Amino acid sequence: MGEIAYMAEGLEGVVAAATRLSDVDGERGRLTIAGYAVEELAPHAAFEDVAYLLLNGRLPDADAAARFREDLAARRALPPTTIDVVSDAARTEASPMAALRMAAARLSLGRPEEPLGDAMTAIAAMPAIVGAYWRVRQGAAAVPVRSDLSHAAHCLHQLFGEAPTAERARGLETYLNTVCDHGMNASTFTARVIVSTHSDVISAITGAIGALKGPLHGGAPGPALEMVFEIGDASHADAFIRAKLDRGERLMGFGHRVYRVRDPRADVLARAAERFYASDGDRRLYQLATDVEQTALRLLRERKPDRPIQTNVEFYTALLLHGLGVPVDLFTPVFAIGRVAGWAAHCLEQLRDGRLIRPQSTYVGPTGRSLGRATPQGHLVN
Ligand code: SDX
Repeated sequence: MGEIAYMAEGLEGVVAAATRLSDVDGERGRLTIAGYAVEELAPHAAFEDVAYLLLNGRLPDADAAARFREDLAARRALPPTTIDVVSDAARTEASPMAALRMAAARLSLGRPEEPLGDAMTAIAAMPAIVGAYWRVRQGAAAVPVRSDLSHAAHCLHQLFGEAPTAERARGLETYLNTVCDHGMNASTFTARVIVSTHSDVISAITGAIGALKGPLHGGAPGPALEMVFEIGDASHADAFIRAKLDRGERLMGFGHRVYRVRDPRADVLARAAERFYASDGDRRLYQLATDVEQTALRLLRERKPDRPIQTNVEFYTALLLHGLGVPVDLFTPVFAIGRVAGWAAHCLEQLRDGRLIRPQSTYVGPTGRSLGRATPQGHLVN
């Protein structure tokens, strides 16, 4: 048995697996997705090709790309029982991520448990789950899926009931590519732990959704945008953020366990947002967001001079998704629509190359206790 390593709180700095899927360089602020720099891949590739890259280790040629798209499109429609669960969740006002978790668990229904089929079904089905939930919550019907739309266009079609412009589809596709994979983040680690027991991929993705539901991991973009709206004018930013920090609150969209410099994804999404707001959105909001970001960074430097807290992926996620018309409540589920490709690929990699994930723990509880004697009523006292 290997020697006992030191205890790393939150497993900070611990390498839990070797992976060919992504490299997060926290010191230099670089993200590589299966060999490609995120700055090059995200704005130019189709999401389907990025998903293929993660699952197969290379970009597809034309034939493989066509087959892959056809296979994904054939898996988009949800079984009636899943629509029922999503509708019940919407009607009872369950949170969007709770609805996603409940519906994802049903993706096993009527299908054999098989890793690649599970992976493809999970990637394909997410947009319809999120769209159906949102439509029912708005009092509308779920939108029948179309197989002729790209994955990104299909997402927006499921939300809004109409095919998006090419500009909007490209904006969402850049986002989905940007967040598709990111090393051993909490939700990906969760998925790997689950399949490391040789459980099934749908169980792993359901667990990953549960991990992403937490505000420290996935819940940041909504509050980040709400902060920009509450500030309302750049002249209010300093006082507003100071008060937040004085209350010990964290600024959503800033800080990262790995990046000690600016998250490279923030730049990719900032450029996508700037392009989008220049042509279609509210340019004033984009300018306000950049002013708020600079004020936040200045005050975080002031408060934590020894701990670099930089803009992370979520700050410009918020701006871009808002510009695309995605409601704040759906920011995290839409993140999951992109990240599910990474979760699925990590599951297949773990099943192929990994072993059971079982770290140690150090006991800090009481010792030397004994049951002692029983009272006449039979209660044990010690
Ligand atoms: C994602 O891991 C991934 O790769 C995740 C992700 C992915 O693609 O999967 O990149 C996606 O999760 C991005 C992060 C989204 N979350 C947020 O934006 C929430 C706000 N950020 C934080 O809560 C925080 O920065 C974390 C949780 C993201 C990282 O925190 P760490 O590295 O564990 O640092 P920490 O919690 O130990 O904090 C260290 C100090 C603390 O101060 P002290 O208690 O020591 O006085 O820094 C402070 C924190 O209070 N701090 C912040 C802060 N982030 C850290 N203070 C104010 N605002 C912040 N955002």
